[in-house]
Amino acid sequence: MSGSGKSTIAIALEKELFARGYHCYLLDGDNVRNGLCNNLGFTNEDRTENIRRISEMSKLFVDAGVICINAFVSPTLAIRKMAEEIIGSDDFIEVYINTPLEVCEQRDVKGLYKKARAGEIKNFTGIDAPYEAPILPQIEIKTVEQSIEESCQLIINQLINK
Ligand code: ADX
Repeated sequence: MSGSGKSTIAIALEKELFARGYHCYLLDGDNVRNGLCNNLGFTNEDRTENIRRISEMSKLFVDAGVICINAFVSPTLAIRKMAEEIIGSDDFIEVYINTPLEVCEQRDVKGLYKKARAGEIKNFTGIDAPYEAPILPQIEIKTVEQSIEESCQLIINQLINK
C-alpha cells in the first residue's frame, strides 16, 4: 500500500546490490507514473495497464541481464498474476511489504490518506479501492517488526539463491 515502505526498502536494496557488484535498476510507482504511464489513473483498468507496461519493461531489463527491482502497489491478485506471467515465474520474486493500513495512514508521508479520507482523492488503495494481500508471497516483510537492513537481507538471500 501507499506508505508501506516499499520505496525505502527498494532504495536500500538497490544500494546493497550495487555495493556487491550486481547490475540492478529500480522502477518505482511514482516515477514511472510521471513518464511512461502518465496517461493512466487509478481505476482497476488503468492500474492493470500500468502494471502491464511495467512488467513488459521489466522483462526487457531482465533480458538485458539487469536485476529489476519493482516497487509498486499492484493491488490485486489478478494484477500480480499478470505480472508474473509476463516476466515468467523463473525470473519473478514477489515481495509482500506487509504494513497494516493503520500504520500507513499514521505515517501518511505524502498526505494522501488525509486527502483520500476527505474524498479529495478517489480510488485510493485501502480506503475506497481494494487491496488484496498476497496469499503465498515468496518473501513477506513486516515493516513494523523488521528493520530496513533485515528486510534487505531477506530479499538478497532469496535473490542470490535463485
Ligand atoms: S498501482 O495501483 O497502479 O499499481 P502505483 O504503484 O503505480 O499503483 O502507484 C501508487 C502510488 O501512487 C502511491 O504510492 C501513491 O503515492 C500514489 N497515488 C495517487 N493516487 C493514488 C490512489 N488513488 N491509489 C493508490 N495510490 C495513489
